Amino acid sequence: MIEKRLLFVCLGNICRSPAAEAVMAGKLKKRGLDRRIICDSAGTIGFHSGAQADIRMQKYARSRGYEVTSISRKVKPATDFDHFDMLIGMDDQNIKDLKTLARTEDEKKRVFRMTDFCTSFKYNHIPDPYYGGQAEFELVLDLLEDACGGLVEYLDKGNK
Ligand code: 4NP
Repeated sequence: MIEKRLLFVCLGNICRSPAAEAVMAGKLKKRGLDRRIICDSAGTIGFHSGAQADIRMQKYARSRGYEVTSISRKVKPATDFDHFDMLIGMDDQNIKDLKTLARTEDEKKRVFRMTDFCTSFKYNHIPDPYYGGQAEFELVLDLLEDACGGLVEYLDKGNK
């Protein structure tokens, strides 16, 4: 039975949020929660809609054991706020955009910040790696592994 639906959101949905989706799916599977908690991702812009994740992110994530397979799509406010329990943004702009798209106070309360679930790193956003190199992509993956670990604990503690 599905108990929680999570939507990870960044700008283009080709770097950070598809990686968040893959890292979280991997951690949920390890914890045996993958049938109860499902993950998807989307972008606030539709510029890359229909495209695979950035090939660099696919490569660096694969080397850590995560397959980034999702296809980019734009956030669909009319249905995503009905369908998902948590819409999790990567940076201030994503969160601002999601809160603007939310139609009610209840929908605004479903908007979360990815780095709020970090337990080791002290970052307040997941930096956009698009114009960076390997170091920027690896930092995103480090932060996502930390945040997804915290998010699994949060959900497993009864917030699901
Ligand atoms: P993402 O990275 O938001 O993590 O998917 C970006 C992807 C594309 C662009 C910017 C950021 N872009 O400007 O096209």
